[in-house]
Amino acid sequence: MPLDPQRFLDDLHKLRSFGASGVGKGVMRQAYSDADIAARRWLAGRMEEAGLEPHFDPLGNLFGLAGERSMLVGSHSDSQPEGGWLDGALGVVAGLEVARAAREAGRPPISCVSFQDEEGRFGVLTGSDVWTGKLVLEEADGLTDTAGNTLAEMRGKMAGLAGNFLPHNRFSGFLEMHIEQGPYLEETGLGLGVVTDIVGIRDMRISFEGRQNHAGTTPMHLRRDAFQALSSFNTALNSRIAEVVNPATVWTIGHVALHPNASSVVPGRVEFSMQWRDADADRLARMETLIRKTAQEIAADHNVTAELGTVMGIEPAAMDARFQAELAAAAEALAPGKWQKMPSGALHDAANLATVMPAGMLFVPSIGGISHAFDEDTYEADLVLGLQVLDSAARALAG
Ligand code: GLV
Ligand code: MN
Ligand code: MN
Repeated sequence: MPLDPQRFLDDLHKLRSFGASGVGKGVMRQAYSDADIAARRWLAGRMEEAGLEPHFDPLGNLFGLAGERSMLVGSHSDSQPEGGWLDGALGVVAGLEVARAAREAGRPPISCVSFQDEEGRFGVLTGSDVWTGKLVLEEADGLTDTAGNTLAEMRGKMAGLAGNFLPHNRFSGFLEMHIEQGPYLEETGLGLGVVTDIVGIRDMRISFEGRQNHAGTTPMHLRRDAFQALSSFNTALNSRIAEVVNPATVWTIGHVALHPNASSVVPGRVEFSMQWRDADADRLARMETLIRKTAQEIAADHNVTAELGTVMGIEPAAMDARFQAELAAAAEALAPGKWQKMPSGALHDAANLATVMPAGMLFVPSIGGISHAFDEDTYEADLVLGLQVLDSAARALAG
């Protein structure tokens, strides 16, 4: 059989050596870091060895091309600043193996892909945002990471590799395999998830500007303390938002930069990320209204000013019915009764791809439901079963 689970596992382990954190199997491979670029160069080499034509576009999205027109299978190989070894990497290496096996067997061509900056160092799903036309390149170039680097500067590091943007109609559809990154498959004991929908997301930066001053001499009633404003904002939001959300809605303040971040100084400025996710676009909009209103009111209460940045986002996306059906048929054939249909609470490039071609997604379980952490993991048997189901569905759809 051309599909080679051991070759797939070996490549997956090799990929985690790029940016290995030294803590468990974790990786630190943020988009455009030296480790990310080295990993992409290695992947391009593996594609070439497999007879696929490596192609980098101006963002650094890496395609392994087969045929004139083909199915596309893949995910992303960048990671969170502290990431797991499988988030994205699994789908990239599975795509490589499926494309490689199709070529070796002389079956209809399958291409593979690793999208760039899925983890949103700069935007939300930056590489596929730009490729699918949701974000224009000139606008993307002005995006900054939390350290103030621009995307333009960072993608410049890959300029020597960059070719053109590929036309979408080169591909007949997109399949992505991914770890679930949540607890449900493990809880239900089902080995596979066929994704029905991907939630929508909104993400913005907010800052409160107060007055930096001496922490010993500034009386409490005269303070304009940016941290106290953030603390009150968080408490007020958690209580007010209850009227808008449902049990599946999530919201997160994940990045906070306090200035000057010193124990004897009343903080004069705080900048933080505000992210929220839900399957219903109207609810996302109602949450935005509430977040804006709460930020302004709390700022006024604390005598600080609020600055609300641009809201970036991805709309909730349904997976293609035929792709779901083929994944379900393959899952039932290879693991009868051991799969379920489920929504995705994590974002994926498939949400963007669904706007330009039919798209489908397959999940395998995450041990303990842990992801975006060094100890993210999945049992090898689940990885291999996922690969086989993905391959079977990809063959059916490519044929
Ligand atoms: C993607 O990694 C996400 O944040 O869901
Ligand atoms: Mn991912
Ligand atoms: Mn991720």
